[in-house]
Amino acid sequence: MSAILLPARDANLSGLAALHLQCFPDEAWDSAALATVLAMPGADGRVVYGATADMQGMILDQCLGEEAEILTLGVSAAARRGGIGRFLLSDLIQRTRQSGARRIVLEVAADNDAGLGLYDSLGFQRDGRRRGYYRRKAGPNIDAWRLSLSLI
Ligand SMILES: CC(C)(COP(=O)(O)OP(=O)(O)OC[C@H]1O[C@@H](n2cnc3c(N)ncnc32)[C@H](O)[C@@H]1OP(=O)(O)O)[C@@H](O)C(=O)NCCC(=O)NCCS
Repeated sequence: MSAILLPARDANLSGLAALHLQCFPDEAWDSAALATVLAMPGADGRVVYGATADMQGMILDQCLGEEAEILTLGVSAAARRGGIGRFLLSDLIQRTRQSGARRIVLEVAADNDAGLGLYDSLGFQRDGRRRGYYRRKAGPNIDAWRLSLSLI
């Protein structure tokens, strides 16, 4: 994998929004929503660019005190299964560890095999389910798994 990793706050917000829409068509964040997220206390993130400066992946997180939360993580459809998701998540784990936080948490849809596979592969544990947490444009709401990774 040849990729460039840059802070998300330096990324083009409309490009980030286009990638978010591709990854989460049922709950896409537009440029204004992304700007709001990036302006939250403790918010940070990284974006991966490919060889032709195409945005291939993104991760946004919020780290407050002892806990960091993954707000969103996605890889463009064309770049999936190439290691970018693991690269972004491993980088986040390293940054969070360096910050002194003790735990990373997130929610992921219970029908998201790719996301669950990625988090499982990096040692996240399943702490419980939230019923009907994710709304779908078509079909019933989907449960979320609450996941965490202890850094101590
Ligand atoms: C989930 C997602 C980020 C994975 O990104 P990726 O770059 O394709 O993942 P990687 O290539 O780094 O894969 C790392 C590991 O994740 C797991 N994984 C990735 N895709 C998978 C899939 N479709 N099914 C099952 N496991 C999968 C595997 O364990 C994989 O390791 P392996 O390739 O050695 O088997 C990507 O599929 C995506 O953007 N999906 C849409 C948005 C989303 O669901 N985000 C996560 C929710 S928070």
